[in-house]
Amino acid sequence: MAAWWCFALLLVLCAPAGADVSKGKWEPLIRMPGEKEPATARGFEGPEEEDGVGTRWAVLIAGSSGYGNYRHQADICHAYQVLRKGGLKEENIVVFMYDDIANSALNPRPGVIINHPQGEDVYAGVPKDYTGEQVTAKNLYAVLLGNKTAVTGGSKKVIDSQPKDHIFIYYSDHGGPGVLGMPNLPYLYAGDFIKILQQKHASNTYAKMVIYVEACESGSIFEGLMPADLNIYVTTASNAEESSWGTYCPGMEPSPPSEYITCLGDLYSVSWMEDSENHNLKEETIKKQYEVVKRRTSDLNSYSAGSHVMEYGDKTFKDEKLYLYQGFNPANANITNKLFWQAPRAAINQRDADLLFLWRRYEMLHEKSKEKVKVLREISETVMHRKHLDNSVDLIGQLLFGFENGPSVLQAVRPSGKPLVDDWDCLKRMVRIFESHCGPLTQYGMKHMRAFANICNNGIPGSTMKEGSISACGSRNIARWSPLIQGYSA
Ligand SMILES: *[C@@H]1O[C@H](CO)[C@@H](O)[C@H](O)[C@H]1NC(C)=O
Ligand SMILES: *[C@@H]1O[C@H](CO)[C@@H](O)[C@H](O)[C@H]1NC(C)=O
Repeated sequence: MAAWWCFALLLVLCAPAGADVSKGKWEPLIRMPGEKEPATARGFEGPEEEDGVGTRWAVLIAGSSGYGNYRHQADICHAYQVLRKGGLKEENIVVFMYDDIANSALNPRPGVIINHPQGEDVYAGVPKDYTGEQVTAKNLYAVLLGNKTAVTGGSKKVIDSQPKDHIFIYYSDHGGPGVLGMPNLPYLYAGDFIKILQQKHASNTYAKMVIYVEACESGSIFEGLMPADLNIYVTTASNAEESSWGTYCPGMEPSPPSEYITCLGDLYSVSWMEDSENHNLKEETIKKQYEVVKRRTSDLNSYSAGSHVMEYGDKTFKDEKLYLYQGFNPANANITNKLFWQAPRAAINQRDADLLFLWRRYEMLHEKSKEKVKVLREISETVMHRKHLDNSVDLIGQLLFGFENGPSVLQAVRPSGKPLVDDWDCLKRMVRIFESHCGPLTQYGMKHMRAFANICNNGIPGSTMKEGSISACGSRNIARWSPLIQGYSA
């Protein structure tokens, strides 16, 4: 406990010094002809280094919306501040976030977002590149490929990168086997995402890339799929078959200020950002950060409220220093890891965090208020829909593979090194068939992606899946949950 307070104090202490960057401490001097370009021209506002890196770029994506998912947008805003203080330029950081948190009626500090119980505002200054309905997988792909004409809406900021550049991608949200959530459907499918990375590599527009992903089953986005020859190093919050965890949640320790009814951050995410803020990034290596984050996210190797941080892709450049991707904040130059903080003592798995938020909301409302009745109805409908999804998937499994075998076939996990599914189009087709008859999967139902993948892996044709879905869900009144209203997630 004492160590943790110490850490919190440090967060507050280093803030004022970090702010110097935005005040133009390194305004480039006027140059004489023939002098070197100032560092700022390279997308890096720190003193010029002979590091051989062109421009440092970043793409930050919060895949959710809704106040109950406060933590994902808080993570993304915080990452923006870390990178800006590290000297990356605003024009080189593309932010995807729904932007419905800071000004939500439920936010106790209007216009402010925090990512730590004692944290300062991380929202101020975050550019609104792609917000609301512009936060789509399609726009993300266009941005990564640097294709302005393929972008719909938004600032049109794209990763217009050159062969010597470095790119840092960080994503935070819910996920499921093979998919990452997006606040606007459809979801991001691993098969598509890997293809985009391959296309980016083929265009010879970066030197190296580092990708951090926080989501449930995030390992499944790369497991058996991520080539080692794209100069891309990846870490994920969890392996291919487990939840990732929210943290700084109400009623848990450490807990957010009492006026918050929602979690402030996610365990893997705050672990890497707090590590970056507490080290000299010219000394801290990619490998070291991976190890620190892995230990903290594992709940200090107990895994009782934690997950397995994984790494994928090209592991040959892990000894590189982090500042080559995240930049360098001189205010942190002399900080060494003297203070090792305790892992947060409690965390909640991503899927239960939604319900925790609704219950907190319910408890907070006045007895007999109309709102309280409404929230209770929402809780009961959410729980019922979850049960409906679980039961329908189970039933379809039994219809397709038999009463005895159904559950084990649907839940079968392929050996590590094999992708979730071989035919990604088949997976999307199965999801659409299911949703047409049984209603949308929702954030929670993403966990059933493995079942649909296994239906494909067992060669079940669409027509059989359709019959199964009709039998399982045909009699259900799906008006409230119709995909015609909510859209398809594939
Ligand atoms: C950019 O996207 C547009 C629209 O999708 C497409 O027609 C074009 O071929 C793309 N350009 C490149 C260079 O890939
Ligand atoms: C870090 O330490 C060096 C050498 O002792 C010193 O010159 C520098 O001013 C210190 N930087 C900060 C931000 O404290």
